[in-house]
Amino acid sequence: MSVSSVDGIPRRRLGRTEIEITPIGLGTWQLAGGSGLDKLVWQGVSDQETNEIVRTALAGGINWFDTAEAYGMGRSERRLALALRAAGASDEDVLIATKWMPLMRTAGSLSANIEHRKECLSPYSVGLLQIHQPIALSTIKAQMEALAGLVDQGMVRAVGISNFPAPMMRRAHAWLSARGIPLASNQVKVSLLNRHIETNGVLKAAKELGVTIIAWSPLDMGMLTGKFHQDPDLLKNRPAGRRVVLRVRLERSRELVRALEEIAAANGVTPAVVALSWLVNFYGETVVAIPGASKVSQAEQNLTANELRLSPREMGRLDELSSRFRRLIPRGR
Ligand SMILES: NC(=O)c1ccc[n+]([C@@H]2O[C@H](COP(=O)([O-])OP(=O)(O)OC[C@H]3O[C@@H](n4cnc5c(N)ncnc54)[C@H](OP(=O)(O)O)[C@@H]3O)[C@@H](O)[C@H]2O)c1
Repeated sequence: MSVSSVDGIPRRRLGRTEIEITPIGLGTWQLAGGSGLDKLVWQGVSDQETNEIVRTALAGGINWFDTAEAYGMGRSERRLALALRAAGASDEDVLIATKWMPLMRTAGSLSANIEHRKECLSPYSVGLLQIHQPIALSTIKAQMEALAGLVDQGMVRAVGISNFPAPMMRRAHAWLSARGIPLASNQVKVSLLNRHIETNGVLKAAKELGVTIIAWSPLDMGMLTGKFHQDPDLLKNRPAGRRVVLRVRLERSRELVRALEEIAAANGVTPAVVALSWLVNFYGETVVAIPGASKVSQAEQNLTANELRLSPREMGRLDELSSRFRRLIPRGR
């Protein structure tokens, strides 16, 4: 993975592909919020706010967006495409990463499903197609063969996986390599409050194989912004599915969030920006992140992490305070 820069914003290669992305992209599960099962987690974002969030991300130099079929059964994909159109983005300007859910269907369905992904994302193409999670009806070989077929037909530019443990990631890489195609990425949960990639073999495999790690929930669903520590009442108007998870983590993250606030004040930014900057720099170029936003101000802030470099002392302090999150923490601690 090498680094280049466009208009001052650094870009990194996505795995061993030719695609270049900014360290910070935009996660868009939030765009499916407010209806269906997604409303259990996300409160919903108006069309106007959606357009503004996407326009702000683009204007701030972000060149890639993460979505999935599973986010509102195409709703996030469709709203993202509409917002990109409203902002006047061309297909060459952006990379859209979407996902195929391997449940209740086999790898054979991928070739028909890609037409549906293209329809939802129209007029944009599928830049990166990811297998959403590792539990599947088909073998890894069958899934990778199907992905390779889509690359060969020019249906997608690159392929990746999500939530794959290290041994399965290595198998996926090997099957794609046999077809001469790089495994571009593995999208997993990583943040200052979840550093399991360091102990479960995923980071080691990514570095060895040249696979980019895309960090989902890089702000731990908002916990690392410090807003829920400052005003725990905010949790009351967050959907139950997220409220329960966040409540558990409030105490255990307090000391770390205090440090984020201090470092943020010293750098004239917000704790969220500090947390994101740490994440996309601590592991060299291997980890990139897709913070989600339900407000324009959030997207506006988060993209500034593309350019913030913390001092070695600040990086080290956050490393130390979060080192216990390298392993699973028992409930209630
Ligand atoms: N592959 C997978 O299995 C998987 C799983 C989950 C997510 N994802 C992807 O990862 C993306 C990001 O993960 P996530 O949305 O779960 O978590 P996240 O990015 O850690 O948190 C996003 C939430 O944090 C709050 N926030 C963000 N920036 C903020 C700021 N600057 N100031 C204050 N609050 C801020 C907002 O909460 P409020 O809306 O409450 O204000 C926002 O909705 C998703 O959109 C999706 O694309 C993938």
